Amino acid sequence: MSSVVVIGAQWGDEGKGKITDYLAQQAEVVVRYQGGNNAGHTVEVGDKQYKLHLVPSGIINPEKPCIIGNGVVIDPKVFLEEIDYLEEDGLSTEHLTISDRAHVIMPYHKVLDELSEETLGDKKIGTTKKGVGPAYMDKTSRAGIRICDLMDRELFADKLKTLLEEKNKLITLIYGHEPLEYDEIYSDYCKYADRLRKYVSDTSVEVYDWVNKDKKVLFEGAQGTLLDLDFGTYPYVTSSHPGSGGVCIGSGVGPKAVNEVLGVVKAYTTRVGEGPFPTELFDKTGDYIRQVGREYGTTTGRARRCGWFDGIILKFAARVNGLTSLAITKLDTLTGIEKIKVCVGYEKDGKIITDFPASLKDLAKCKPVYEELDGWEEDITMCKSFSELPATAKKYVEKIEEISGVPAKIISVGPNRSETMIRSDLF
Ligand code: GDP
Ligand code: IMO
Ligand code: MG
Repeated sequence: MSSVVVIGAQWGDEGKGKITDYLAQQAEVVVRYQGGNNAGHTVEVGDKQYKLHLVPSGIINPEKPCIIGNGVVIDPKVFLEEIDYLEEDGLSTEHLTISDRAHVIMPYHKVLDELSEETLGDKKIGTTKKGVGPAYMDKTSRAGIRICDLMDRELFADKLKTLLEEKNKLITLIYGHEPLEYDEIYSDYCKYADRLRKYVSDTSVEVYDWVNKDKKVLFEGAQGTLLDLDFGTYPYVTSSHPGSGGVCIGSGVGPKAVNEVLGVVKAYTTRVGEGPFPTELFDKTGDYIRQVGREYGTTTGRARRCGWFDGIILKFAARVNGLTSLAITKLDTLTGIEKIKVCVGYEKDGKIITDFPASLKDLAKCKPVYEELDGWEEDITMCKSFSELPATAKKYVEKIEEISGVPAKIISVGPNRSETMIRSDLF
């Protein structure tokens, strides 16, 4: 068996899209298993740049089958727009399939996402307002509409009528907002359904077959470990399981289906949205990293919060995901910083702790303990192998490996597919 899962080891935006695209060249099929269009993955190949939210980043290799698994929540309008965007660019979506069990993001999910954030005021989560949280809420409360329901007009009409009545009560009586119109939603979603139909299948059968036939299956995670519903900085998290555990539930395979768990980690830390961030920088270095690393969200355009590399987070991600390898991205962004800090512990109530705490109150008391490493001045974007890196950059990579206990098999030194060093093959 030969399958790899690419997961975010921090708060998302680690460069998973770029790494997925790179590995998709060797993979035989790419599968997304959770999240929705809250994700934003930028992939650069040659002089082309692609921005994807829902479709797996493997699609840039259009001859490879791509699957959107049952664990993903699908906004049909966004899906169809993305299909048009890809096709207009000459990328075929012929080999793309979506699960009949995936849940559908409805207009009331987006409205409720917005209204809930507005009502929370300064306690807001800072969601992407794409309706992802409310769609997963409906899934777990057993009130969701699945792709297979959308394919059946009668069933869809019946479900929508009942659900919209309840949602409109919430929207008007609790939030004081205008109700949504049944006819408009029904008519729009029937049109989407007509176009979606050809992509729909029981993808769990397909994924099972690929895995069973020992094919090279690449599972693509969205978001990151610290945004995981269970292991993230709750409640400042997303509503799915971006970690390796999400693969089984989100695509319909058993736990032995994954061989290699690749954690994608930036050479520093970023976060978008609210919530704690122990190594966050509020100074010129933070601004420098944001400018050089172009740290602005792909989905919402928001400026990403930037900080030093946090070894406690990576150790935690290595443990809860069973990481077997790392892809360190954006090493080039640190070029020119004289002294680079790495967080190796947290000081809490006079003691050093090395496990990431559950309680946000405890986390707020944690002060990062840093080790300082020498930086480098040389442009590293042209380096093609680890041995070509300046000695101090190598030491930096080795420090990350030492803290996490996980080998860095991929080092990324630029956004382009060509700016990638492979130290050891994953497939
Ligand atoms: P994802 O959500 O994990 O796929 O990450 P995003 O695409 O949201 O954000 C990562 C950003 O960094 C994108 O703009 C990528 O093009 C870019 N990127 C990825 N790897 C590298 C790298 O090694 N160096 C630089 N400079 N940019 C990178
Ligand atoms: P990719 O796949 C970074 C964050 C939001 C917010 C929280 C909840 O590009 O790494 P949601 O809309 O999911 O209910 O928002 O999660 N968030 C992300 N942050 N990268 C992402 O995806 C994210 N997807 C959601 O900013 O803090
Ligand atoms: Mg992103």
